[in-house]
Amino acid sequence: MKTHDYTHLLGELRSEYAARAPKSAALNERAQRVLVDGGSHTLRLMQPFPPRIAAAHGAWVTDEDGHRLLDFWQGHLANILGHNPEVVTAAVLQALADGVGLQTGFTERYQVEAAELLCARTGAERVRFTTSGTLSTMYAILLARAFTGRDVVLKVGGGWHGAQPWALKGIGYHGEQGYQHVETAGLPSAVCAEVVVSRFNDPGMLREHFRQYGDRAACFIVEPFMGAGGFMPATREYLQTARELTTQYGAVLIFDEVIAGFRFRAGDTGALYGVQPDLATFGKIIGGGMPVAAVAGRADILNLASRAGRVKFSGGTYSGHPASMLAAATMLRYLVAHETEIYPRLAVLGDRIRQILEDAFLDEGIYARCTGWGNDALPGSSIFMLHFPYQEGHPLSAPDDVFDPAVCDVALNGDVLQLALLLENVHITHGHGAASTAHTEDDAVFLEAACRNVARRLRKARG
Ligand SMILES: Cc1ncc(COP(=O)(O)O)c(C=O)c1O
Repeated sequence: MKTHDYTHLLGELRSEYAARAPKSAALNERAQRVLVDGGSHTLRLMQPFPPRIAAAHGAWVTDEDGHRLLDFWQGHLANILGHNPEVVTAAVLQALADGVGLQTGFTERYQVEAAELLCARTGAERVRFTTSGTLSTMYAILLARAFTGRDVVLKVGGGWHGAQPWALKGIGYHGEQGYQHVETAGLPSAVCAEVVVSRFNDPGMLREHFRQYGDRAACFIVEPFMGAGGFMPATREYLQTARELTTQYGAVLIFDEVIAGFRFRAGDTGALYGVQPDLATFGKIIGGGMPVAAVAGRADILNLASRAGRVKFSGGTYSGHPASMLAAATMLRYLVAHETEIYPRLAVLGDRIRQILEDAFLDEGIYARCTGWGNDALPGSSIFMLHFPYQEGHPLSAPDDVFDPAVCDVALNGDVLQLALLLENVHITHGHGAASTAHTEDDAVFLEAACRNVARRLRKARG
């Protein structure tokens, strides 16, 4: 294994980038004085400073300095129709003009329609909306613990379910400690002790964990398509084993579909595996660009949140916000109506992008592989993550395969790749992203040229 030192290249990239973006730099100086690290989401901040976006349409965004960037981050993977799709903006503008857009503190008809669509397309009996994926997974676990009267929360290493108490263990890969690390200070120690971390796509380990903890397990929470943990689909066997074991031990099966929901079909991803979870969480795409998330699933569990129930999932000020619910209903209706065009096209585009990324680096002698390809359950995928494994043919089916620095060159698909691509007017966050319906073949060609330039530059820098 030959490791590379990118210090010099990174320095070069940072100064080129800083020189071409004086307006973003000036805004960054102001931001640093009042915002923590200059922003409100760590992943969106970078050194020397992030591009500040002034406008976003379809596949492209424009920064304050006037650079048009081909964007595959697409609203933190929320924008499956591209930025600001007219179908949603027109509906929201009309609602604002009609006086039903901003907060009312009442309930209206949009959330009924959004809930009807969500239930119809996911097999859920009840849904409750909230305002972030983080809150949805927190409430789902709260419901599971109350329903079962048990404490232990089983999750998978690398699984990101938002920064909430039961989800802050086992996110990042930490050397010998693997995925047993707690990612934040300030958590009650009892919470950390209650979280048991298993390995993604490892049915044997899951069986062993249920054998050990099954009678104390409130739930097993897992993404049917692993997002931040490496962009890889679960195997059919893994999700079926999860269903069998949770049923056998009386634990609640929670599918976190905040990324996966409506990403691969106009509905939940569990259906593609023929597995119905007890609860599922949704976010991102379902909001149509607005902050909407949901817990959906069995009525007997969700009804614990009813007025007569025992779980304080009673809602927040902005739960069921009118314009957000309208955007959600509009997006869901659109995806359902156009399902047969949208998803096959996105799958083709996803294949094309993954191939472009791999080939651009391979052709310069840099071994690169993408995750995000479909499998026998998932017919195709618009989502991708680029990795640089040291060894050809190494399996990339669980987070430790791609985040262990002994297996992949993790330094390369961080800031180095991101900055080098930004200088080519392409925006991909830390090697991962997704195609939207707004991306075209011309965009693929643009991406290809950009990746080839970056790969050439990298080859030269490595010497
Ligand atoms: C699978 C998954 N669950 C939960 C969350 C948290 O959602 P949010 O960022 O909307 O709070 C995310 C966010 O990326 C996610 O990818």
